[in-house]
Order: sequence, then C-alpha cells, then structure tokens
Amino acid sequence: MKISIMGLGYVGSVSAACLAQKGHRVIGVDKDAAKVNMINEGFAPVIEDALPQLIESNVREKRLTATTDAAQAIMETEITLICVGTPDHTNGSLDVSHIERISQEIGTALSAKAEYHRIVVRSTVLPGTVSDTIVPILEKYSGKRCGEGFGIAFNPEFLRETTAVRDFYHPPKTVIGAAIPADADHVARLYEGIEAPLFKTDLKLAEMVKYCDNVFHALKVVFGNEIGLICKALGIDSHAVMDIFCQDRQLNLSAAYLKPGFAFGGSCLPKDIKALAYMAKHKDLDLPLLNALIPSNQALINYALERILHRNRRRVGFLGLAFKAGTDDLRNSPIIALIEQLLGKGFDIRIYDHHVNLGRLRGANKKFIDERIPHISGLMEDQLDKVLQHAQVVVVGNRDRAFSRIFDRLTADQYVLDLVRIQEEVQTAAEYEGISW
Ligand SMILES: NC(=O)c1ccc[n+]([C@@H]2O[C@H](COP(=O)([O-])OP(=O)(O)OC[C@H]3O[C@@H](n4cnc5c(N)ncnc54)[C@H](O)[C@@H]3O)[C@@H](O)[C@H]2O)c1
Repeated sequence: MKISIMGLGYVGSVSAACLAQKGHRVIGVDKDAAKVNMINEGFAPVIEDALPQLIESNVREKRLTATTDAAQAIMETEITLICVGTPDHTNGSLDVSHIERISQEIGTALSAKAEYHRIVVRSTVLPGTVSDTIVPILEKYSGKRCGEGFGIAFNPEFLRETTAVRDFYHPPKTVIGAAIPADADHVARLYEGIEAPLFKTDLKLAEMVKYCDNVFHALKVVFGNEIGLICKALGIDSHAVMDIFCQDRQLNLSAAYLKPGFAFGGSCLPKDIKALAYMAKHKDLDLPLLNALIPSNQALINYALERILHRNRRRVGFLGLAFKAGTDDLRNSPIIALIEQLLGKGFDIRIYDHHVNLGRLRGANKKFIDERIPHISGLMEDQLDKVLQHAQVVVVGNRDRAFSRIFDRLTADQYVLDLVRIQEEVQTAAEYEGISW
C-alpha cells in the first residue's frame, strides 16, 4: 500500500519504519523540518531500540521518505495514518488542537483529490472524537461526505516506548473501529502477517478500548505499589507476594471480576479491605487506592438508588437478595443496603430469592436475618410472580436462571433495573436499564 503518516514522533516514526519494512511505500509527514530531515538522511528522529537500522535501510531502499508537505503526501498515497500528539491541558482535559489542525490539512488536500482516500486515526482520542470532531472537519474542508469521498477508522496504538519496534510486530491485539466494514478490512491489510487477535468494532468502542487499557495499566502499577508499601511496613517481601499473586490465572490475572455489574459484597471483600486499610492507617501509610475501594463501591449503590428514585414509583420488587445466585449468605449484601435505603424512604418492597427461603434457612444465616434484618424477612415472597405483580420497579439482583425468563411477562408500565446483565440481549415491553452498561 501507499501510506502517508502524519506526525513522526514515537508512534509515527515507528509505524513508518515498520510498515516500510513490511514492503509498503511510506511517506512520513511532520511540521518539524528537523525530524523530516533526519529521516531523509536515514536517522531515527526518536530514540527507540532497533529503529535506526530500520529507518536507515528503508530510506536507502526508497520505501520510506519524509516531507513537511501534507497535501503532497496525501496526493501520492491511498491511506493516511494520523499519529500527531494529543497532550493534556493544565486542567487535565485533552488538547486536540494538533488533531484539529491536521484534519483541516487533510481535508483541504482531499478537496483536490478524486480518488477515495482512507484516514486512520492512531493518536489516542476520547470516545466520540473521531465522529464528532475529526469527521466534521474533514467533511468541511474536503467538501466530501464521509463514506463517499473518504473513509475513516480508528486504530489505537499499543506500543510501549523502548520496545516499540518489537511491540509493532508482536502487538497484544489489533483493534479497528470503523463505521463501514470495507474501511476496517482495508486497515486490517496493513497488518497482514502480524499475528495478533483482530477486533473490528465501531469507532467509539475502539476509542474507549485504548483508555480502558491505559487506565488498567495505571491501576495495576498503583495497586502493586500500594501492596508493596504494606508489605514493606510489615517486613514481608512484596515481590515474593506478587510472584504468588501473579501465578493465579484463575481469579487474579484473568477476566474474573472485570465485567461491569453491581457493587461487591459478601462476607469477605468488604471486611478484608477494611481490615487491611485500618492496619495500614495505623502504620501511617498513605494508600489512596486501597482507601477508595469501599467509597467507590458505595457510590454505585447510591447510583442504583438514584436510578430508582428518579422513576417516582413506590412499589419495588427485588429478584435476588443474596449478593450472588446459589448462596443464602446475606452478610454485606449490597442489595440489602439498597433495600434498607428504599425502606427508609417509604418504598413498598417485595423480595424473591429462591435460595433465601425463610422456611428452609438454618444456622448462621437464619440468625443473621432474625437479628440483623428482621424488617426485611417480612418482605419476602415465596413466588417470583407475586413480586412481579407487585412491582412497578423490578430490580434484578443476581443471576438466578429463573430471572432471565421474566421479560415476556412484564408490561410497558414497569421499569427494570438489571444489576447483573442477566441476558446479553433483553427484549421486553418494560423499560429496561442496565446498572453499568
Ligand atoms: N508514545 C507512546 O508510547 C504512545 C503509545 C500509544 C499511543 N500514543 C498516542 O499516539 C499519539 C502520538 O504520540 P507520540 O508519543 O508519537 O507523540 P509525539 O509528541 O512524540 O509526536 C507527535 C508528532 O506530531 C507532529 N505534529 C503535530 N502536529 C502536526 C501537524 N499538524 N502536521 C504534521 N505533524 C504534526 C509533531 O511535530 C510531533 O513530531 C498520541 O495521541 C499518544 O497519546 C503514544
């Protein structure tokens, strides 16, 4: 392919060199003439392992050239990658001025080009930026419509500085967001031969994936460091702890616990977080992440409450009382916290939970109900349908399979707040909302 690349920083120069090495013809563009000159003389404009050799050989073989003239580069190529910087403003907001500027230049150049041209955004931009900022500028300056005169895709970059060249050839994944499948297919051809899972999706979702990744990486760093500080204060080798932690691919380094849903609860997580945080405080450790877990969890319970209050309907039915299906353990159930708040506001509540059958309940859980939440036991129904008939608001609280079969029994005047994504696709006459999706 004939490719132009806007911006020859870390992402642009590595992409330019690696794509040229794959046999594509690449024209790099930067407004900084010094970077352009360096490439044309066969030197790398940024320090990156293995990049000097790649640039030198591909410039020599004439597969890679650079220019400050964006318009000329667009005329001579079929696809343009945008790799300009997206720094932050002092208030933390994203500075998209380079993106806006280059979009104007590309749009203007396209106004003079007859052929369909594809633009691929590789810079990190907030969800919605491609559709709401970049496409309108391209359309305005080109006088063409997106999907007719030009195509657009978002293809986030996952390289890490210092191992960028290696990461280009061995990415963790390739993600291509596009509105038109043919545009996505065309972008995928850039990476033919590179072994990595390929995800084709829509623009906004692809933009979000990049932020999700980076926030998670930061979360991991902060988590590891906070655990490190606790271990150090206790005279425990934090690396030995994390070595064992990382061996657990079932619950720790896995997809477990990562799907958006409702607040955590149960007899272990809340208590153990509080105990560790309390001990850390007594060791004078400042651990904002650890201390944020309980408030963040509580904020989601408050959010659920707001969603229900917002509906202005008093009769609420809860499907599921325990924090997950298949247990009768009610200790620290976030659903009970939600119910108690609603009761305090005078809501008329009924509850069904197959596993919390009061007649069958024994031992510690019966004691817990009798002593701690006797006011709730009176609200329990023994039949799911009785709760559905009562409820103007239905809250699906756990993944009991029976709950996935309720939707064709609901009517348009009922509202469902689903806390567990009981089904991937819900079809119902009722008004349906997922708590965090
Ligand atoms: N650096 C990384 O490791 C990395 C990894 C993944 C994603 N990203 C994202 O990729 C984007 C680029 O990052 P980077 O580190 O390569 O940035 P960078 O600052 O190193 O390079 C950006 C380049 O764009 C050029 N530029 C700006 N406006 C231009 C214009 N109108 N015309 C031509 N050139 C122009 C600048 O002169 C500069 O050389 C950012 O959105 C960043 O968040 C970076």
